[in-house]
Order: sequence, then structure tokens, then C-alpha cells
Amino acid sequence: MQNHGQFLEIRVKDAIEPLLRRPISIYNIEGDIVEFIFQVKGKGTEILSNREVGEYIDILGPLGQGSFNYEGKKNIAILGGGIGVFPLYELAKRANKNANVNIYLGFRNKDAVVLEDEFNKVSSKLVITTDDGSYKQKGFAIDLLKQDIEKENVDAIFACGPLPMLKAVKQYAEEKKIPCQISLEERMGCGIGVCLGCAVKVNAGEQTVYTHVCKAGPVFDSNVVEI
Ligand SMILES: Cc1cc2nc3c(=O)[nH]c(=O)nc-3n(C[C@H](O)[C@H](O)[C@H](O)COP(=O)(O)OP(=O)(O)OC[C@H]3O[C@@H](n4cnc5c(N)ncnc54)[C@H](O)[C@@H]3O)c2cc1C
Ligand code: FES
Repeated sequence: MQNHGQFLEIRVKDAIEPLLRRPISIYNIEGDIVEFIFQVKGKGTEILSNREVGEYIDILGPLGQGSFNYEGKKNIAILGGGIGVFPLYELAKRANKNANVNIYLGFRNKDAVVLEDEFNKVSSKLVITTDDGSYKQKGFAIDLLKQDIEKENVDAIFACGPLPMLKAVKQYAEEKKIPCQISLEERMGCGIGVCLGCAVKVNAGEQTVYTHVCKAGPVFDSNVVEI
């Protein structure tokens, strides 16, 4: 399966309300089992969190083009923040088989830190930061990534997280001329390219055009997408 970086559209309840499915990334794939992890944010994820073990859930997917382009890269840096860490695990797991994978994850505080052991197992080096310093290093994960890249070159950066983090890594990768792909977690409606709810600007040659994150993404080359 080629689905690292892709996502699922989940109908949280078999009812008219809430009408829209909720997009959740593929976290881990083991044989026929596809795992996802989510944070309760509002009504939809709250309902989903109350579904019982053994219940069938209506899931559409895998959706999107997904697929971080890690093949052939020997030194990889992965940057994640908050709920953006989830789609990076399957990538790290696969890339770590043939490459040096350094992972930088940023969280708001100690309580928000997730999957430390899991990411440790699929990385050469794992750096965790918290905004308030309540766990591991205080500060932003991207600053530690930059410090390491100043000492040792990387072939590619892959990132997913809050928009300010993605803007910062896009700018840094362009300055340093490092290939970089980012996964956008825009708000979505349909998830299949019909509602225009997830439009994003991309450079297509001389032109700037709009495309759909749900169909063309959510993974984009950072130098192509305008965020
Ligand atoms: C491609 C993609 C992959 C995603 N993967 C994951 C994942 O693996 N795990 C996970 O926990 N979440 C993920 N999300 C975010 C998740 O879809 C939203 O948190 C969820 O749809 C919120 O639904 P809700 O009904 O609970 O909240 P709502 O009632 O719709 O909103 C509650 C609050 O959450 C905010 N919110 C809603 N959608 C988003 C979003 N996309 N990003 C940030 N804030 C949002 C709203 O602004 C509002 O403040 C992903 C989003 C996308 C687009
Ligand atoms: S979510 Fe409807 S077009 Fe992308």
C-alpha cells in the first residue's frame, strides 16, 4: 500500500447531523489493519470518541494523493507539531528502513505529548519540544531542526503541523534549497474534490492557480504551494 500521507473521511455517526465527514490521517498500516488517532476538538470528534468497540464505522478512503517522496533519500528530517504528528509515523516507519531519519516534534505542553515511544523506535534521533518547557526542550521544534541542519546536511524535509510551523519550514527549505514536502490539514467539507472547501493556491509554471488539498494533496512540495 502506498498510503502514507493519505487520509480517511469518517462519518462519525449514522445520522443526518453532523452531515459532513471528518478528515483524519492514516497513522499506521499493519497488513490489512489501518490505524488512525484523533484529538477531540469539537462535536464530530466528540461523537466519534464515544463510538463503542466493535461498532462498524462508515469510512471513506484512502483519500488524497498522499505519499511523501522519501525513496532514495539517505538523510531525512521530519518535523511535526500537535495533531500533525499522526500522518508522519507511517512515513518515518518506512523511511527508517533505509535512511537516517531525524524527527523533531513540537507540542504545546507535557500533556499534549503523544507517541514518544513509537517515534523513538522509527528514528535515528528524536527531539521533542514543548512551547512552555514543561517536557524535554523548551521552544519550537523547527529551531532544533535548523540547528542540526547547520551541522549536517539533509536530503529532504517532511512536515505536518500548524500553519505557522509549515510557513516557517517552507521558507527555511527554500532559503537552504532543501527539497521539502508539507502536509496541509486544511478544514475540509466533502474530501473528494466537489465542494471547494479546501482550496489552496499553487504555482503551476508561470501561473498561480487554485487546487484542492483533498484531491491534489494533502502532501505538496513546499515550493509549489502558497500558504
Ligand atoms: C487532511 C487532514 C488530516 C487530519 N488528520 C487528523 C488526525 O490524524 N488526527 C486528528 O486529531 N485530527 C486530524 N485532522 C483535524 C480534524 O479533521 C479536525 O480536528 C476535525 O475535523 C474537527 O472536527 P470536530 O467536529 O470535532 O470539530 P468542529 O466542531 O468542526 O471544530 C472544533 C474546533 O476545531 C477546529 N478545527 C476543525 N477542523 C480543523 C482542522 N482541520 N485543523 C485544525 N483545527 C480544526 C475548529 O476551528 C474549531 O475551533 C485532520 C484534518 C485534515 C484536513
Ligand atoms: S473538501 Fe471538498 S473539495 Fe476538498
